[in-house]
Amino acid sequence: MWSIVIRDGLKSLVSGSRHLRQWVRKIQPYRSWPQNDDLALLQGLQIVSSAHNHGLTNGVIMEVGTGWISTIPHLFLAAGAQRILLTDIERLADEQTFTHGRKLAATKPQSLSDKVGTEKKTLCANLSKPDHFDYRCPPRTEELASDSIDLIYSRTVLEHIEPETLVQLQQEW
Ligand SMILES: C[S@@+](CC[C@H](N)C(=O)[O-])C[C@H]1O[C@@H](n2cnc3c(N)ncnc32)[C@H](O)[C@@H]1O
Repeated sequence: MWSIVIRDGLKSLVSGSRHLRQWVRKIQPYRSWPQNDDLALLQGLQIVSSAHNHGLTNGVIMEVGTGWISTIPHLFLAAGAQRILLTDIERLADEQTFTHGRKLAATKPQSLSDKVGTEKKTLCANLSKPDHFDYRCPPRTEELASDSIDLIYSRTVLEHIEPETLVQLQQEW
């Protein structure tokens, strides 16, 4: 309770919430929300499966609105994605939450293997490689060469974007 009061009080005093977030995480490590984690994992498996059915898991993949946890990018990493761009208007993920996302993505190797047709040991080996995410906040997608992305996906983000912005983004995508 008091930690929340102190944290929120500091947030209102200090500008640059990214630095404040890093500082707070040092004192209070990231705490997961299991229900949210389970749903993200379930929906992530569905997204990766759908990408696989379209022959897109091995290409260059862009996530719109990464948020805190990298479960879905890590599932794509396990499935053999060549390159993964993470985009957000705010830098919310950090080393702790990337580690958490990797752990979650490693919890269902059989399900992932069934969905993408890759052996479990290959999926696990891919997940143990160092992350090669290109994490962009702000997204700066105008800097990307045209036709350089094979797949764009997003989960629980589009409903947060103003309709006019969404129309512009959809044209760009
Ligand atoms: C509810 S969170 C979802 C995070 C993540 N996709 C997930 O499944 O847990 C929404 C995220 O979308 C991001 N966001 C909002 N507008 C955005 C935009 N125009 N471009 C990229 N990210 C955006 C927010 O900063 C936030 O991280």
